[in-house]
Amino acid sequence: MRCASAPGKVILFGEHFVVYGVPALVVSLGLRAKVYAERSGGGVEVVEEHSEPVASAARYVAERLGYDGGLRLRVESEIPRAVGLGSSAAVSIASAAATSLLIRGELLGDLVLEAGQAGERTVHYNPSGIDTAIAFGGGGGVYRRGEGLRQERFRLGSIIVIDTGVERRTGEMVERVRRFAEREPGRFRRVMEEAAALVEEAGEALNTGDLEAVGALMNRNQDLLRVIGVSSPIIEEAVSKALELGALGAKLTGGGGGGCVIAVAEEGKIDEVAGRLGGRFRVMVPRLMVEGVREEAC
Ligand code: PMV
Repeated sequence: MRCASAPGKVILFGEHFVVYGVPALVVSLGLRAKVYAERSGGGVEVVEEHSEPVASAARYVAERLGYDGGLRLRVESEIPRAVGLGSSAAVSIASAAATSLLIRGELLGDLVLEAGQAGERTVHYNPSGIDTAIAFGGGGGVYRRGEGLRQERFRLGSIIVIDTGVERRTGEMVERVRRFAEREPGRFRRVMEEAAALVEEAGEALNTGDLEAVGALMNRNQDLLRVIGVSSPIIEEAVSKALELGALGAKLTGGGGGGCVIAVAEEGKIDEVAGRLGGRFRVMVPRLMVEGVREEAC
């Protein structure tokens, strides 16, 4: 048996627009998905959850390596599912890595990234690849479709992650944006331009550690996400509550329509804001910018 793990992520700026080529800023989270892979009698079998992306990623690796025996895979994940924290990408990458280790005895990087993307496609409509790139590479930085992830050392100590508890399918939200773009092409183009400018400013603010600017830009990014129709009443409630409690900025992260909201606050205020939000939502202050895919002891 061989095992591998990969981290979840939060998109700080630029989700949805990244599907259309705008850069997005993303960091990995200290929550991991671990996959156990072993040889079995025949076929690809996934014990318990996440069966589709896990099986597809493993199958992709097995096929490319010419392995036609059976595989049994098991998942252990700390990443909440379907709330925008990249759980399907993390399990896909971890599954591909564990399968590569099992069949070839080494983690074949390019193959694992491709296989992870194949796994992600089973749950996502037209994924930009941002989730698999960060689950693979870890750390954090600027992602651009077709170019991949460019690592940056963002000066961001911590972030508040507020889980609204409302699960949704990212594919449906991406589809909703596609319909908006089709219905109002001029407006969508203007919003995209604004998003691109905002992401560039946000990159500078994160590199210099200007938390106030980061917060203000998050609020502007949330305005744009609202325009394209991916916010929701529960997201708006979490955003307003965070701001009311003294956060410097807040926005949805990932697909929207429910899922998670992120907020930044001054270092000394984080615990208080997070604690008070905890009365209404599940709140985390996870470690950021962690190691990407890696082999684990089984
Ligand atoms: O899978 P989620 O909910 O973290 O969202 C991924 C980010 C999107 O930009 C909404 C989709 C994509 O493929 O980039």
